[in-house]
Amino acid sequence: MRRTGVAVIGCGAISKLHFDSIVNTPDTELIYAVDINEKRAKDAASAYGCGFHTDYREVLNDPAVHAVHLCTPHYLHCQMALDAMEKGKHVLTEKPMAISPEDAERMIRKSEETGLTLGVCFQNRYNATSVKIREALDSGRAGSILGAKASVTWNRDEGYYKADSWRGTWEMEGGGVLINQAIHTLDLLQWFAGDAVSVRGSCFKSLLENVIEVEDSAQAIIKFDSGVNALFQATNCYCVNSPVSIEIICTNATINLDGSLTIRYNDGKTECFTDDNPITGEKSYWGYSHKLLIQDFYDCIHTGRKFTLDGHEGIKALKIVKAIYKSSDTGQWVTLS
Ligand SMILES: NC(=O)c1ccc[n+]([C@@H]2O[C@H](COP(=O)([O-])OP(=O)(O)OC[C@H]3O[C@@H](n4cnc5c(N)ncnc54)[C@H](O)[C@@H]3O)[C@@H](O)[C@H]2O)c1
Repeated sequence: MRRTGVAVIGCGAISKLHFDSIVNTPDTELIYAVDINEKRAKDAASAYGCGFHTDYREVLNDPAVHAVHLCTPHYLHCQMALDAMEKGKHVLTEKPMAISPEDAERMIRKSEETGLTLGVCFQNRYNATSVKIREALDSGRAGSILGAKASVTWNRDEGYYKADSWRGTWEMEGGGVLINQAIHTLDLLQWFAGDAVSVRGSCFKSLLENVIEVEDSAQAIIKFDSGVNALFQATNCYCVNSPVSIEIICTNATINLDGSLTIRYNDGKTECFTDDNPITGEKSYWGYSHKLLIQDFYDCIHTGRKFTLDGHEGIKALKIVKAIYKSSDTGQWVTLS
């Protein structure tokens, strides 16, 4: 089988997990580390034994590169993905896939026109606890969902925002805690509860009001097409990065993820699953399921199987985020298209 040549674009904080995963994925070959910051590109290239470049467009002209990973600031994902697919490369983009649903739709259209795989890095769907929740719901054992709530209480301080100029801005980050940190949990919620149909939410700045343009905290009620309503809360102003908490009340069970997963069935049976890496905002956590997602992405490319976490899936949480922003601005319910 032809080995798939890969370039990682953006050699910042998250890139190490992509590099580590690529070099441990069968039939893939890391070709380039790319960053406008030459030192970062060179350092990654020497750590992982590949070439380096500072201009991603040059890399897209290399026929040895068949796929690119986008580990760059949010506002760059759309243009980079379009350029890459135009040049015949598969794309795995970090979340959020874009800073607007319109841009995300352009990426989806390009992927459909070209037949290239467009994947979105919502790695928490691959966590053992997420898979167990889906099993309990899909098998019918938990019954149907009556309601849900989720909260993300993490810590991102002034130092975090001041370290990189793109963070904390509408133009480059596209929002605050919702689009960057809580989007993972919104993705899980809708993966469990069904497609979101409308939201009512409010966003605000609190402890970081003199540091960032965007929201540091938000709350919302989300209505899903299954008839389920969920309460959602997120902040970057907590003192630590607590495990994400998700509770799902079902007709036959209560599902509780809070570091570990407990499913209490109404007949008295209880199942517990510990996750070695609960969903927190710690950097040590990020890598837990990247490797699983990346190996699945390449297995799909190599076998022709469809990669499930494609643009159509990746856009869903982004649409919820943008709907909460709109609802916060207008003070009205916002219907998702
Ligand atoms: N899935 C997760 O759990 C997770 C965790 C952290 C970050 N992320 C995502 O990863 C992405 C990157 O985040 P980060 O924290 O690594 O950011 P970062 O700022 O640490 O790194 C971004 C890198 O991109 C480089 N860059 C900027 N413009 C470029 C260009 N035109 N060409 C090439 N390189 C360019 C920068 O020099 C920088 O090294 C974001 O989308 C973020 O949301 C995902």
